Amino acid sequence: MCSLGRLIAFGLLAQVAVRANANPTPNNSSHSTCRAIPGLPDWPSDSSWASLNSSLSGRLFKPIPPGAVCHPDQPTFNATLCPMVQAEWLTAVFHTDDPVSAVQQNWNNDTCLPQANVTCSGEGYPIYVINATCAEHIKIGVDYARRHNIRLIVKATGHDHNGRSSAPNSLSIWTHHMNGLSFHEGFAPKGCNFSIDTHAVTAAAGSQFGEMDLQASLRNLTIVAGNSETVGPGGYLTGGGHGALSATYGMGADQVLEMEIVTPRGEILTINECQNQDLFWAIRGGGGSTFGVITSATIKAFPATPFAAVTFLVGTNTTSDAYWSVIAYILSQYPSLSGQGIAGIPFILPSFTNVELNITTPVAAYAGYFFMPLLSPSNSSATLAAAITDVFNNATAPFPGQFKVIVLPKTYPDFYAWFKDTNGPLDGGSDALVGSWLLDEKALTGDLNSLKEAIKAFTPPDSYSGPYLVSGRNVWDSVPRGGSNSINPAWRKAYLHFTNSVSWEPLDPAGKAKQEDFLTNTYTKALRDLAPDMGAYVNEADPNTPNWPHAFWGDNYSRLLDIKRKVDPHDVFWCTPCVGNERWEEVGNMLCQV
Ligand SMILES: Cc1cc2nc3c(=O)[nH]c(=O)nc-3n(C[C@H](O)[C@H](O)[C@H](O)COP(=O)(O)OP(=O)(O)OC[C@H]3O[C@@H](n4cnc5c(N)ncnc54)[C@H](O)[C@@H]3O)c2cc1C
Ligand SMILES: *[C@@H]1O[C@H](CO)[C@@H](O)[C@H](O)[C@H]1NC(C)=O
Ligand SMILES: *[C@@H]1O[C@H](CO)[C@@H](O)[C@H](O)[C@H]1NC(C)=O
Ligand SMILES: *[C@@H]1O[C@H](CO)[C@@H](O)[C@H](O)[C@H]1NC(C)=O
Ligand SMILES: *[C@@H]1O[C@H](CO)[C@@H](O)[C@H](O)[C@H]1NC(C)=O
Ligand SMILES: *[C@@H]1O[C@H](CO)[C@@H](O)[C@H](O)[C@H]1NC(C)=O
Ligand SMILES: *[C@@H]1O[C@H](CO)[C@@H](O)[C@H](O)[C@H]1NC(C)=O
Ligand SMILES: *[C@@H]1O[C@H](CO)[C@@H](O)[C@H](O)[C@H]1NC(C)=O
Ligand SMILES: *[C@@H]1O[C@H](CO)[C@@H](O)[C@H](O)[C@H]1NC(C)=O
Ligand SMILES: *[C@@H]1O[C@H](CO)[C@@H](O)[C@H](O)[C@H]1NC(C)=O
Ligand SMILES: *[C@@H]1O[C@H](CO)[C@@H](O)[C@H](O)[C@H]1NC(C)=O
Ligand SMILES: *[C@@H]1O[C@H](CO)[C@@H](O)[C@H](O)[C@H]1NC(C)=O
Ligand SMILES: *[C@@H]1O[C@H](CO)[C@@H](O)[C@H](O)[C@H]1NC(C)=O
Repeated sequence: MCSLGRLIAFGLLAQVAVRANANPTPNNSSHSTCRAIPGLPDWPSDSSWASLNSSLSGRLFKPIPPGAVCHPDQPTFNATLCPMVQAEWLTAVFHTDDPVSAVQQNWNNDTCLPQANVTCSGEGYPIYVINATCAEHIKIGVDYARRHNIRLIVKATGHDHNGRSSAPNSLSIWTHHMNGLSFHEGFAPKGCNFSIDTHAVTAAAGSQFGEMDLQASLRNLTIVAGNSETVGPGGYLTGGGHGALSATYGMGADQVLEMEIVTPRGEILTINECQNQDLFWAIRGGGGSTFGVITSATIKAFPATPFAAVTFLVGTNTTSDAYWSVIAYILSQYPSLSGQGIAGIPFILPSFTNVELNITTPVAAYAGYFFMPLLSPSNSSATLAAAITDVFNNATAPFPGQFKVIVLPKTYPDFYAWFKDTNGPLDGGSDALVGSWLLDEKALTGDLNSLKEAIKAFTPPDSYSGPYLVSGRNVWDSVPRGGSNSINPAWRKAYLHFTNSVSWEPLDPAGKAKQEDFLTNTYTKALRDLAPDMGAYVNEADPNTPNWPHAFWGDNYSRLLDIKRKVDPHDVFWCTPCVGNERWEEVGNMLCQV
């Protein structure tokens, strides 16, 4: 819970918060050309930071990058700890538990890798971190950053594929220790004169989906969640949020009933369909760390249902044209599969080995399509297997003897059981970028040859792509509270969220530039050309997507921008690619006005 140094301070703060509500005029905003950085005159003095620390009961700290234990020139150097850090570095959880480390190290600019032979400058990390455990801590941090012209970021887990939870020369609000889940039978949004007849769960900002899924499952409930147990609701719900159940219940952002947030002006507000409706609309899809800091979110939960899943593997020993024809045919059947209540999280691999397919030699020419798993609350294993086998048979019929298939049906008692079985701990710690595009029916069922060429071009030869069947009719028809939210309207006509990724060796600017160029100008371009009127899912997209405001938010962008200007006239929250960030740009490790 919230602990502030002196009881009296708590009382005063509560009053300030109330006053701020009544009079939300921006206070003492700086108009410097750049955000303050250490060493320049406008950076607050040590005593100023010390008094911030004391108003936070000592919850402010100067972070030391975790890789520093491997560097003899660093104060935390420890030859015993270093190999342990190196061993855990390549797991996502090491970074999601750390106050400042990003899951993709390029977002810390590779400035303190756990290797003694490279420099640990720590420049890609924040200068100060607030270990927040309650809304008041966040308010104090936001007010301080606003008044002192400090670059501000919010880190929950550091999963962000756009690097929005990392920045040099910043003050970071770290929400990891804001814990607490509470379940409701019926939910009355504050200030509304009605109650919503639904199961619901309120999650504090530091929650992560593994725990939320588990606690829901223990109550025979299920929630719309993604495929990583370490992702948190802050980034997920603000970006949109898809998962195995989105095709059944709608997007993650569509499930939100209420949030408590700290605004850029330092107000602590409840936002829902009855109060602060603009913010409520904007924050459900308009992007992380843009409209404020969510301290807790209440989302719908549903009675758990059994899950039928079918792992479906197609393998071939050739990357010939036949392989891409088969894949294109399977994707062209997504609208039909979706119509049968089927969703799935598949992968297309240009090269793989698979014991069950008797393809055990690691030959680059082997190719595979994994529909892994096919699942649906409204189907049985038998209907799923029949539907997918039918599609497979038709896809491979023109190429007798060239393809092998395995269909492994399995039924789980609920979503969580499926989740635990199929989603293990994830990798992290490398340099990578994600690309994606949403595809509608026209793109999938139009010219099969164009689809084939686009799939081929989108699937990096040394990696894989993920044609996620996670949208469809129930996402299109989903009605969020208050009538609408700000997720990319392209979701409301998409079937397929098609993702890929590129990676490179750290500290290799040329390799990085080459991969960035491939991602933007070759791989994802193929899908943009195939479906130019669609868009991409901001949380899993190429940050260099051309015209990203439109690609990520479509026609919602102008209303989002209006709201951003109203609630954050001085750009206390700035990130990229984020709504309303046009007035600032990164100049080296500084953030400066354009
Ligand atoms: C391995 C992996 C699997 C994934 N699987 C899925 C998936 O299945 N479905 C899906 O939809 N997405 C998925 N994602 C993408 C995921 O939704 C985004 O990475 C998301 O931004 C993570 O949110 P976070 O809060 O955990 O991460 P962070 O990096 O901590 O934050 C992400 C963004 O949200 C902001 N933010 C965090 N907390 C708050 C808060 N309390 N208030 C305001 N802003 C906040 C941050 O400042 C940043 O802008 C996956 C990502 C990874 C790395
Ligand atoms: C900031 O707000 C406080 C309290 O509301 C007020 O007393 C003060 O005058 C304001 N300062 C500026 C520069 O607006
Ligand atoms: C903040 O105060 C705590 C407790 O007094 C102290 O341990 C910590 O080092 C301080 N942080 C900074 C940045 O000085
Ligand atoms: C190094 O880390 C180990 C393991 O945490 C610890 O036991 C030891 O005291 C540390 N050594 C120094 C010099 O800090
Ligand atoms: C540093 O050492 C690691 C192995 O510990 C090696 O993989 C890497 O290439 C080295 N980097 C440089 C810049 O020498
Ligand atoms: C952050 O706060 C939590 C909860 O009080 C505490 O357990 C944890 O050790 C703190 N972490 C750091 C790095 O200060
Ligand atoms: C306003 O900003 C100035 C300069 O950064 C600072 O000295 C002063 O304390 C600030 N006032 C408030 C009320 O935060
Ligand atoms: C709830 O409020 C609405 C709008 O103010 C009003 O029209 C409606 O009659 C109220 N309903 C109840 C049950 O009080
Ligand atoms: C969950 O469902 C099972 C099986 O129907 C039942 O035995 C159990 O009591 C239920 N648990 C709760 C917490 O409702
Ligand atoms: C691929 O498999 C087919 C059928 O089993 C076989 O005839 C062919 O020689 C194989 N090709 C390669 C390159 O292994
Ligand atoms: C793989 O080989 C094993 C043993 O030779 C056999 O039992 C199995 O049916 C084969 N699987 C496929 C998919 O061909
Ligand atoms: C597969 O082909 C058969 C025979 O042409 C046809 O009846 C069936 O509808 C096709 N199935 C799919 C999923 O296209
Ligand atoms: C990342 O590091 C490079 C090389 O040191 C530097 O030029 C660049 O400004 C850094 N980027 C940021 C955002 O700090």
